[in-house]
Parts: sequence; C-alpha cells; structure tokens
Amino acid sequence: MNIQIPDHIAAIKSYQPGKTIPQLQEEHGWEKVAILWNNENTLGYSPKSKQAVIDAYDSINYYPDPISADLKKGLAARLNKSEKEIILGNGSESVLMLAIRALCSGEDEFLTSEGGFVIIYNWARINNVRCVAMPMTDAYGFDLHAIKNRINRNTKVIYLANCNNPTGTSLTKAELDNFMQGIPDHILVIIDEAYFEYSRAIDPEFPNSLEMDYPNILTLRTFSKAYGIAGVRLGFGIGNEKIIQAMAKAKLTFEPTALAQAAGLGALNDDEFLSKTIENNTTGLHYFYEEFNRLGVKYVKSYGNFVMTVWKDKEEVMQVFDKLMKHGVLVRPLMPPIEHCIRISIGRPEENEHCIEALEQFL
Ligand SMILES: Cc1ncc(COP(=O)(O)O)c(C=O)c1O
Repeated sequence: MNIQIPDHIAAIKSYQPGKTIPQLQEEHGWEKVAILWNNENTLGYSPKSKQAVIDAYDSINYYPDPISADLKKGLAARLNKSEKEIILGNGSESVLMLAIRALCSGEDEFLTSEGGFVIIYNWARINNVRCVAMPMTDAYGFDLHAIKNRINRNTKVIYLANCNNPTGTSLTKAELDNFMQGIPDHILVIIDEAYFEYSRAIDPEFPNSLEMDYPNILTLRTFSKAYGIAGVRLGFGIGNEKIIQAMAKAKLTFEPTALAQAAGLGALNDDEFLSKTIENNTTGLHYFYEEFNRLGVKYVKSYGNFVMTVWKDKEEVMQVFDKLMKHGVLVRPLMPPIEHCIRISIGRPEENEHCIEALEQFL
C-alpha cells in the first residue's frame, strides 16, 4: 500500500485512550470511586432529557431534522437571539471545528494561548491551519496583550476560553471589551463559554459575550457540562448570521442526531436540575478551597466545574496522581506548559470528600 498521508495529518499525535473505568476497577479493586477527571456532571442528567430521548426513539428510523429547528427555537427564546444566529453541532468541539473549516484557508492563522483546552490545537492543525499559541501570564491566564500584539495579516481566528479549561481562569468584561476594541473586524474572535452556567453562579458579574455588541464574536456553549448530557454530544455556536450561514455549509448534513436534539430540548426545559447542578458546583468548589487551604495544597481560583491544583513539578504530579488512583480517585495530570498541575473536577459531596480523605492520607 502506497497511499501518502498528508504531512499535516501525519504530524498529529493520535489520541491515546487510557484504561476504561471497569478495567481500572478490576485492576485496583476499589471499594468506592470518585470520577473527577473529565469535568463531567457527576449529579447525572435531567429526567426530562431522558424522557425526551425515550420519546424520540420511536422515530429513530428517520433522519434527524438537519437544522434542529425546535431546539434552535428553544435556544433563541432563552438566549434572546434570532434562530438565524444559532448553529448546533456534535458538541461545541464540533462547532469550533466548523468555524475553522468554514472560515480558514491558505495562509490563515488560528491565534490563541498556550495552556488551553487541548483539543483546539488539533482542530486547527487537522484543517491544515497554522496554530499560534502565546504563553500564558504568570497567573495562568490568557495574556490578551501578547495575543493582540501577535496579530498579523494572516490572523483569521482568535480563540479565547472564558473560563479557560484546565486553568479555570477568567477574563473580565472590561478586559474583553478592551481587547475587542483593538481587533480588526475581519478577524473572528471565538469566545468559548462551555462553563458559562457555572461561571455566572460563581460570579454574578461574569461576562456574557452574548451581550457584547461585536459582530465578529462567535460564542460557543455546550450541553455537556451543567446540562449533563456530554454522552449524546450537543453544543452550539451563536454569532453573526453571515458566519453562521457559512458554518452551516461545512456541517455534516444530519448533525446533531435526533436523540441529541431531543435530549437538548428536554434538558433546556429543566431549570430545577440545572439549579441543583449549579448549587452543587459552587458548594463543592468552596469545599475544595477550604480543604486545600487546610492541607496546604496550592490552587488557582476557578470559574468552572473543576479546580487546577499546582505542585512542585511533573514528578510530584505523577506521585499524587498514582496515589489518588490507588484510592479510586481519578483526576487529570496536565500537559506542558502546566505539567506541574493537576485538574480536579467538582463531584458530588461524597466524591469530593473521598478525594480530600485520599489526599490527606499521604500529604
Ligand atoms: C473549554 C471547553 N470547550 C469545549 C469543550 C467541549 O465541549 P463539548 O463536549 O461540547 O464538545 C470543553 C470540554 O471539556 C471545554 O473544556
């Protein structure tokens, strides 16, 4: 076989799946387990979402609605936007990919920060778009000044996550406004607000990019976090109609699936579950802060459903990771340039306590 793999694909490292939870369970024989490694909603999902999926299953022999009209309508009403300004996809990861695929070509560059959500760098490279990542600030935040200074004639898309995963750091409304004022309007600024529902509960002043009046902002949101349906893959983008139309052309015809659309509508109509989730998160976050202070564990204040702890170096990180794993506490060691950090998601109260008990045993 002599098929040539293009250089930009050959250069990408393949995803290396770790062991599954059942495999790890068999290996370690844990009595209890705390799954705190993927920023998932460990309270579960809305019963309304489950019922909507069960009902939708009866029509599974038909293709889904390619424009997700009902869900779009529900979202438009909730977000006070027009349906034409919304696009849905298989997770916000897919919506990000649509933006890159629809807008970037030739020498166009994707500009962002180091220490962001790991998948974004790959989506740029897979689409053969040069990805430029600026160093973070000393406080693990996005260095907006450095990003702005790095803009050149090839810059097409800037990606900012607010709050950022895995650092948990946030940008204020004033910082974002100040940044946007210097950005030429031929550059699309993607503001990824995957954790928005949590962020707003942590800080009522947390900026909502949907309320910012810049036509070159594309906001990303997801049903994977506070809405608790990561497994069905559903996210959305909100932006200028012209951008949304271009992205729709790049979308898989029947993305997202009928079950995902139904799950999303059910979840959207369950404020009770959403409030419970948000409350559990804010309480869990403060519990971790107090316990980390008591144990002398360094951390960065977070605006999401996770907190980044800071250790001496990679070696210490792997020791902590292994020890927690032995106790059935699954956390996420991070990649360079923050390989001296571990991200811990907020779980149910008993999972958070289990994590602290395990840490306390060896600290
Ligand atoms: C900042 C950020 N954006 C996007 C995503 C992906 O979300 P989705 O499940 O909607 O693809 C994540 C998931 O962890 C995230 O942390």
